[in-house]
This record gives sequence, C-alpha cells and structure tokens, in this order.
Amino acid sequence: MNIKVLGISTSPRPDGNSDSLLRQALAGAESAKALVEYISLIDLKIGPCIECNSCYTTGECRIEDDYQGLLQMMLDADRLIFATPIFFMNVCAQAKALIDRGQCLWAQKYVLKKQLFPGERDRRAMVIAVGGSKSTKMFDCVRLTMKTYFDSLQMHYVCNLFVNKVEDPGRIENHPFAMTEAFRLGSELTAAEAPPPEQPLDVRLT
Ligand SMILES: Cc1cc2nc3c(=O)[nH]c(=O)nc-3n(C[C@H](O)[C@H](O)[C@H](O)COP(=O)(O)O)c2cc1C
Repeated sequence: MNIKVLGISTSPRPDGNSDSLLRQALAGAESAKALVEYISLIDLKIGPCIECNSCYTTGECRIEDDYQGLLQMMLDADRLIFATPIFFMNVCAQAKALIDRGQCLWAQKYVLKKQLFPGERDRRAMVIAVGGSKSTKMFDCVRLTMKTYFDSLQMHYVCNLFVNKVEDPGRIENHPFAMTEAFRLGSELTAAEAPPPEQPLDVRLT
C-alpha cells in the first residue's frame, strides 16, 4: 500500500518561500511512490481555540469551521510535512491557530485517556520553516511548539528543514541547496524504514 503524505502550507503568501519548499518536499515524496496531498491554509477557514474546554468531555472541538475536515486528513496521513514562515520567532499565526485547535487531541490523550488509533501506526512528521533574519534562535521555538503538537497527533517528529536569511517571496528558488534538500527530505521521509530518531534531525541552511 502506498504511504499517504500530507503537506500543509501555512504561509499567508501563496508564492511564499516555505510553500515552495513544501512543494519540493512533496515532489520528493511522490518520487518515492507516496500518495501526496497538498493543502494551504489560505484556502481554509480555521479559527483559534477559544478555551471553552468542551473537548475535555467530548474529545472533540465544537467550533464549526474547516478544522474538522483537515483533522481527518491529518489522522489519515502516514506522513505530515508542515511548512511555516517564521513570524516573531515562531510559527505564523495561521499555523498556530491550527496547532491550538489540537487541544482536542491533547484532551483525548491526557484527560480522557483515549488512544487516537486502535493499534500502533508508524506516523512521522517533518517541519519546514523559513525566516528572514540572521539569527537562528527562532528554530528552537519552532521545535518546542511542533514537538508538543506532533505528540498530540501521535506522530514521530523526525526532521526539520530550517532556512534563515530568506525574506522576499520566491527568493528561496535561488538558494543553492534548499530546493534539492527539500526534495531529498521529502523522499527520505516517505521511504524511511529505520526506527524514527529520538530527537528530530535538523538540516539548517543559510
Ligand atoms: C509579521 C512577520 C514577522 C516576522 N518575524 C520574523 C522573525 O521573527 N524572524 C525571522 O527570521 N523572520 C521573520 N519574518 C520574515 C519571514 O519569516 C520571511 O519573510 C519568510 O521568508 C516568510 O516565509 P514565507 O515566504 O513562506 O511566508 C517575519 C515576517 C513577518 C511578515
């Protein structure tokens, strides 16, 4: 059976740098015979968590928008590639809204003590993040946020592609290695048979 790889683009720029890398990573996944799906949050309406805590009793989010459909896609996927621009040292607001809605997954696991899946599944996730500044400190914030999120999704967090000093839209396409690295990581994420690493492996490019 083909592995299902879902790519989520969270940048508000349709021609954004993280989006271009995501498309390359998905092309790499496709080259490794994955069934690939791409979705951009630009096309969805996903509001922020309002901390109503109703998921603490139902396990489900009661806000009615496009979240439920996207959640189902994430649960169906064997691999997730999550792409985000860096905004104020972390993921962008669109990405954070999606992540925070994952509180219902957290509630299922830690409050209701329910498993998301009946058996063990080898689910793995990768992050692509692009920032404009010289600093690379923001990638530590991304790692922390995404680790907690992937735990809630019951996914192993296996790798990151972090690129800094890239700002103008489309600029990433001129980067000497980033596009080929994205392709390689997407392909490896799909084909991986070895057990996932304890900590996500970073590819950091400037
Ligand atoms: C609101 C906002 C905040 C930003 N904050 C940071 C930041 O803290 N660190 C950084 O390196 N770049 C920051 N940037 C620059 C973007 O990360 C950069 O332009 C990136 O290439 C955008 O990715 P995208 O093209 O995929 O949207 C910020 C940009 C905006 C619009």
